[in-house]
Amino acid sequence: MARLKLAVLVSGSGTNLQALIDACKEPGFPAEIVQVVSNRPGVTALERAAGAGIPTDVINHKAFTTRVAFDAAIHAVLEASGADLVCLAGFMRLFTDGFVERWRDRMINIHPSLLPAFPGRHTHKRALDAGVRFTGCTVHYVRPEMDTGPIIVQAALPVHPDDTVERLRERVLSAEHRSYPLAVRLIAEGRVRVIDERAVIDDALVPGAAMLNPRER
Ligand code: GAR
Repeated sequence: MARLKLAVLVSGSGTNLQALIDACKEPGFPAEIVQVVSNRPGVTALERAAGAGIPTDVINHKAFTTRVAFDAAIHAVLEASGADLVCLAGFMRLFTDGFVERWRDRMINIHPSLLPAFPGRHTHKRALDAGVRFTGCTVHYVRPEMDTGPIIVQAALPVHPDDTVERLRERVLSAEHRSYPLAVRLIAEGRVRVIDERAVIDDALVPGAAMLNPRER
């Protein structure tokens, strides 16, 4: 069967890109990366892509006077790449509504919190300040409002009493690296349908037990 063609949009270190690169190398993984686009030149994500032999493009937002023009340039690269699915992986620009609608249900994002809690920036600091007992990450289809859209995969992690932003970021990131390939796999296998703005997964295996934090003795 033909593999799903992915375009991955990045702005920084690209550890989620790396997780997708590694997943795509596994035998039988139903997707391949055909294009990486960064809005920032010189970022590590671009080195990761080049190292894996994936075509890269830099579309620097600073070179555009309007968001519509920037989005049009990104759209042109994505169209030319033949991508079936766009994966935002630490891509730190907001798209115009028109762009989001053009890629409706063909563009996904990963966010380092259990959405709809803590959309936007500084998620780990806000989670710590709020004193939540669990946090995690979310992979979701992209909608015009920032960090919203049908949820495909979430990973939940307990917050430790002595957690710092850095420790939490590290543990959430390693959950992201499992969650993103899983979401891509589910989509590539044709098992995700958006119905009434909710993502329904065919044959989902769901963990059984509640996790308490703190634990019962
Ligand atoms: C990841 O934690 C990702 O969830 C987050 O940026 C980081 C990128 O790391 N994205 C957002 O906050 C988007 N709202 P990476 O470049 O190493 O993949």
